[in-house]
Amino acid sequence: MRVGYYQFDCVFGEVTRNLDQVSRALSKVSADLLVLPELLASGYQFISKQEVLDLAEPVPDGPTTQRLMEIARARNMVLVGGLAERAGDHAYNSAVAVGPNGVIGCYRKTHLFFEETLFFTPGDTGFHVWDIGQARIGVMVCFDWFYPEAARTLALKGADILCHPANLVLPYCPDGMVTRCLENRVFSITANRIGSEERGGKKTLTFIGSSEVVTPRGQVLERALRDKEALAVVEIDPAEARKKSLNPY
Ligand code: ACM
Repeated sequence: MRVGYYQFDCVFGEVTRNLDQVSRALSKVSADLLVLPELLASGYQFISKQEVLDLAEPVPDGPTTQRLMEIARARNMVLVGGLAERAGDHAYNSAVAVGPNGVIGCYRKTHLFFEETLFFTPGDTGFHVWDIGQARIGVMVCFDWFYPEAARTLALKGADILCHPANLVLPYCPDGMVTRCLENRVFSITANRIGSEERGGKKTLTFIGSSEVVTPRGQVLERALRDKEALAVVEIDPAEARKKSLNPY
């Protein structure tokens, strides 16, 4: 199975521009599963609830889900990517999984990070695993990684691969996911963004890149640089994630 990530720098509020960049970057890719960053089309550093509501989109009718479905259909692959989701008066920090036949599922981030708590409603979907044929995937978003229960819940529900859209600013996660993979014997694909945002007089946020694919043995198969756009696809055998014993007996 060919899996990977696309790491890039999105521009705050420029939804069409950001989606065009993703379409262009993936126009020739050959993969079965590709993970994209958190909030990939809106940007991250919101300064008001109204701003979030204005940029948040319904799933599946909003531009991000529609565009990801278009790419998934054209490239015959599954995509997982993050977006600000609007549902009534609520905005969720969500991730959708889409395939050639449409939406597979939508997960709303459980563990909001820092000022996300001012603008987003904590997720109410719980953690889900979806069978995409070659593997079972589970989705968690960025800071969910810090709570081992998120990865463990997905693993107990049968996930072979943790799909992990992110906008990481702290340095701990890339090595931390090695532990998540070891303790659950699963694969993970973290897709982070690069670049920085400084909005509304707030402290500059610099995103740390370092997107990666990690195996159930804790091997980092591929890790991107901190500050460079990167598209990576590697071959894995998802069956490795179903062998849970560490010792032969
Ligand atoms: C984060 O959860 N975006 C750090």
